[in-house]
Amino acid sequence: MKRSTDVKDYIRTIVDFPHEGILFRDVTTLFADPRGFRMAIDQMLHPFAGERIDKVVGLEARGFILGGAIAHQLSLGFVPIRKKGKLPGTTISEEYKLEYGEAIVEIHDDAIQPGEKVLVVDDLLATGGTAEAGIKLIERLGGEIVACSFIVDLPELGGRAKLEKMGMNVSLLCEFEGL
Ligand code: PRP
Ligand code: MG
Repeated sequence: MKRSTDVKDYIRTIVDFPHEGILFRDVTTLFADPRGFRMAIDQMLHPFAGERIDKVVGLEARGFILGGAIAHQLSLGFVPIRKKGKLPGTTISEEYKLEYGEAIVEIHDDAIQPGEKVLVVDDLLATGGTAEAGIKLIERLGGEIVACSFIVDLPELGGRAKLEKMGMNVSLLCEFEGL
């Protein structure tokens, strides 16, 4: 168990995963540490103290772990945005670009009511493609996004700039240089 109050100190870097030349920022070591995990949740919530939030939306997969803990802490409901084909009810979907090819994410079409204030949660912001697709789904259902909250930013990939250009309030706990 670590003592640091900087979440960055709990995140492990794996070299050459999932491809050669990639530095993978692995938050499982942060999640596994009792102080680290609690600290990350507390720090993600801190900017929103006193703000109205009606629902927490988590992006598959690590956003489920964070979003579930955050929703529980706020006594709110949690809504998953999942990769295509995983949700059993009627869904709406959005396509987004990956490093190679495209992917599709989905949300249940009754998961958010028009006018609900939503906090979007994921572990890491890279190109912003995943979050952008999630934002579009929430907005199509009439949700109003209070902010998008991540632990890690990879600023060289431009995700933050992309989301801010869409008018989003973006909240991040730390950044890593180098891809
Ligand atoms: C990673 C990460 C974010 C996304 C960020 O998830 O957890 O969700 O990539 O990348 P972007 O900003 O360029 O869209 P990944 O797609 O690897 O899937 P997983 O969370 O299900 O493992
Ligand atoms: Mg993910």
